[in-house]
Amino acid sequence: MKTSKLLLLSVLAFVVVAPSASARKEKKKPYNHTVVEIPAVMRQVIPVETAHTQLILRVQENGVLQTLHFGALIADPNAYLDYFTYRSDDNGSGPMAYPTAGGRYVGEPALHVKYADGYHNTELYYAGHEVHEKGNVITTEILLKDYVTFLEVKIVYDAYQKEDVIVTHTEILNGGKQAVELQNYASGSLYLDADKYYLTHFHGGWADEMQMDGELLTHDTKVIESRRGTQVTQCNNPSFLVSLNTDRLEETTGEVVAGALAWSGNFRLSFEMDESGRLNILSGISPYASAYKLAPGQTFVTPDFIYTFSQRGAGQASRNLHAWARNYGVYAGGQVNPTLLNSWEGAYFTFTTETLLRMIDDAAAMGLEMFVLDDGWFAKDYPRNGDDAGLGDWEVNTAKLPEGIDYVASYAHDKGLKFGIWIEPEMVNPQSNLAHAHPEWVVQSPGREIYQSRNQWVLDLSNPAVQDFVYGIFDNTMQLSDKIDYIKWDCNRIVANAGSEYLGAEQDRFFVEYAQGIYNVMRRLREKYPEVIVQCCSSGGGRVDYGALKYFNEIWTSDNTDAFTRVFIQYATNLIYPACVMASHVSAVPNHQTGNVTPLKFRFDIACSGRLGMELQPRNLTEGERALADRCIRSYKQYRDLVFTGDVYRLASPYDGDYYALMYVSQDQRRAVVFAYCTKYQNRAVGAHSFRLDGLDPSRKYKVTELNVDRSSWWGSGKVHAGDFLMNGGFNPALLKTFDSGVFYLEAD
Ligand code: DGJ
Repeated sequence: MKTSKLLLLSVLAFVVVAPSASARKEKKKPYNHTVVEIPAVMRQVIPVETAHTQLILRVQENGVLQTLHFGALIADPNAYLDYFTYRSDDNGSGPMAYPTAGGRYVGEPALHVKYADGYHNTELYYAGHEVHEKGNVITTEILLKDYVTFLEVKIVYDAYQKEDVIVTHTEILNGGKQAVELQNYASGSLYLDADKYYLTHFHGGWADEMQMDGELLTHDTKVIESRRGTQVTQCNNPSFLVSLNTDRLEETTGEVVAGALAWSGNFRLSFEMDESGRLNILSGISPYASAYKLAPGQTFVTPDFIYTFSQRGAGQASRNLHAWARNYGVYAGGQVNPTLLNSWEGAYFTFTTETLLRMIDDAAAMGLEMFVLDDGWFAKDYPRNGDDAGLGDWEVNTAKLPEGIDYVASYAHDKGLKFGIWIEPEMVNPQSNLAHAHPEWVVQSPGREIYQSRNQWVLDLSNPAVQDFVYGIFDNTMQLSDKIDYIKWDCNRIVANAGSEYLGAEQDRFFVEYAQGIYNVMRRLREKYPEVIVQCCSSGGGRVDYGALKYFNEIWTSDNTDAFTRVFIQYATNLIYPACVMASHVSAVPNHQTGNVTPLKFRFDIACSGRLGMELQPRNLTEGERALADRCIRSYKQYRDLVFTGDVYRLASPYDGDYYALMYVSQDQRRAVVFAYCTKYQNRAVGAHSFRLDGLDPSRKYKVTELNVDRSSWWGSGKVHAGDFLMNGGFNPALLKTFDSGVFYLEAD
């Protein structure tokens, strides 16, 4: 494998230099226009491969770059040199690697450019490529050119060998002499060739994010898009799974392609099945109100489109994405983050220093590792005692906390806890000094209402002065105490009547530059604060994407802390995003969002399958409940490295039946933890469900121990079992009543 790659590199590491503009021949046609001649190229195959997967591109004789294969690794990619597909679209353009509006192509374009003369045609031809290897990552850069307009596109593919993940983006250069307008500028196109395509995607709403949805794709185009500006993932997520040649999502079998876009602004994923039956997936920034003017000599770099292929169903696809995320995609991805008590649902806006100190005492007594002070600690003239005032005025409300933040943070540190604090830096309440001082910083459109949502307005992050201000909010908050270990960054509304005074006539840039503005701020903050743990919260899961996760350690998965609803949210979130980013808190019952009442054990068992936290007033727990909390937190610390760094295997889907079960297995297959939850009463004839454990070594023997119980729900707990027995139906804990749940720890000798 290694040798063949090296060989490949030496063959491919060259650049075909296209003829200079002057050397380019112009052929006179009998009719009244000239046609630029495209330099002839040799047909050649360009493989982009990982340990088990391959994207095979081919340069046609006419210079067009096509995608011929994305799937299992084929030892000799040159088999595709003469490959002929009998599938052909009527327009005859074939599966272009980066389809453009223009030429014969009539499908959804990845790139659509309007030129200064008003024409819309772009035809890209191969002009050379380079391959570089850096450790685990092989990068292939392919240069394409339009010889009429001098527009150039470099497609960059980073192939992560071990993780079987390809990350692609494009760099679009205006090589002409006049500005051009990018109307569509997707990050990448991925052609698939199968008989059937079953699409799984994620929809939802506030406190109900990441609900799994799916459909068998039919001809034409399915679009998943967000135009919300901020909170872009509250209703749709820029991620998907496509199962090939089946009409359902299979967990352990079959071919699955899964992908995600790393962009925290408006996005658009499209799935177009053309008349030939091929599927083209485009993933990128949403073109909605975002035609991007590119000056001569300017390059636009599109965000990363991340994708993977699995021959072992959705499970392996998730494991590939998670491994990539932990190693490359998430800020400090491999790190185990602390358990915590967050003040929000336990105190909301109503607290004093005393309230916080007692919560810290209780958190320490239960064995938690951090205390997070949520909303309500700031603003003096317009104190933040509710959600109607104070956002923008980031000074400690000394009427509420006379001793200041350092006093509380030091108290936490003295008790052995870390300390975290909440900010919502992108927003402003009309009732604030900031709104009066800088009305021009508010997102608005002349003559139109500046709508309020949660009594607040959005600050214009496309404006560099606002970016500096937002940077300052974080930076100044960090100066309140040298004991701040964690920042919860919130963002609680979408954009309405989008507009920026700063951008003047260039309003088309607003949505793109808003998202880039957040990244500019986060890039600077990460240089200064590499160690601080930062949570990405947006009324819960309103900003869950791999663009944000380059800078943030974790997400607030949902404002919905009801363990029953979390079953569905967490199952689906974890299809794409690893458990290490999934903050999950135990809260009070009846649940504040749903009114559901679930047992404390069930609540802990759900929260322990992600980054465990608590979000309630500990004083309201009974002695027995505190003892259980203590026990669950203690045992979590024994196995949480598996949750943060292990491979996930989903054993039962709550979307398909009455159970949710999953397990995390250590990389050396020696240790594992299994979580199983019953979501519907099973009658006594049906009895216990047999789960097939996965990812274990079948020939090893594992001691299985149920945690946090005096009497186990499984007859086999406390005993040693062979891996193959556990993986073939032997594991059947008696979880029979609604909200019965169990956590089982496995260790091989
Ligand atoms: C919305 C967040 O999702 C909650 O967790 C909490 O921080 C509130 N905002 C505070 O206003």
